[in-house]
Amino acid sequence: GAPVEVNIAKAEPGQMIRVKWRGKPVWVVRRTPEMLDGLGKIEDNLRDPNSEEPQQPPYAANKYRSIKEEFFVAVGICTHLGCSPTYLPSGMGEHVEGVESGFFCPCHGSKFDIAGRVFQSVPAPLNLVVPPHYYVDDNTILVG
Ligand code: FES
Repeated sequence: GAPVEVNIAKAEPGQMIRVKWRGKPVWVVRRTPEMLDGLGKIEDNLRDPNSEEPQQPPYAANKYRSIKEEFFVAVGICTHLGCSPTYLPSGMGEHVEGVESGFFCPCHGSKFDIAGRVFQSVPAPLNLVVPPHYYVDDNTILVG
C-alpha cells in the first residue's frame, strides 16, 4: 500500500487524528505536557515499559515510543484479537485508577497507556504497534 501523509499543523493538544493506512486505522495523538509527564510514573504496571519487542521501529523502543515526544503514532488495533481501542484523553476512569489518559479495548478489557504500552494482567500480549513513519517537515508525517 501507498504511504499516507498526515497534516498535523492544526492538531490541538490532546487531539487524535485518524487516517487509514493499508486498510488499518492509524492514530496520531498530539500529547499534552501532562500526558508526557505521566509516562514515567506507571512503569511497574506495564508489561514492556521500554518497548523492547524486536518488531518495533527503533524510535519506538523507549517510554515515549515516538520520534517526537509530543506526537504518538500508532496502529489503532488491539494486539489481542484486533478490536479498535477507545481513546480516553481525559482519564481512564475505573479502567485504570489514577492514570490520566490512554486507550481501552472494549472487547476483552485490554488497557494501554498514552504511549500504547500495554498494562499487565490484560489479554493483549504486546504494546500497540508503531508503524514505520517519518517527518517530511514540521507539519507533515508520512506513514508507511
Ligand atoms: Fe482487545 Fe481482546 S481484542 S482485548
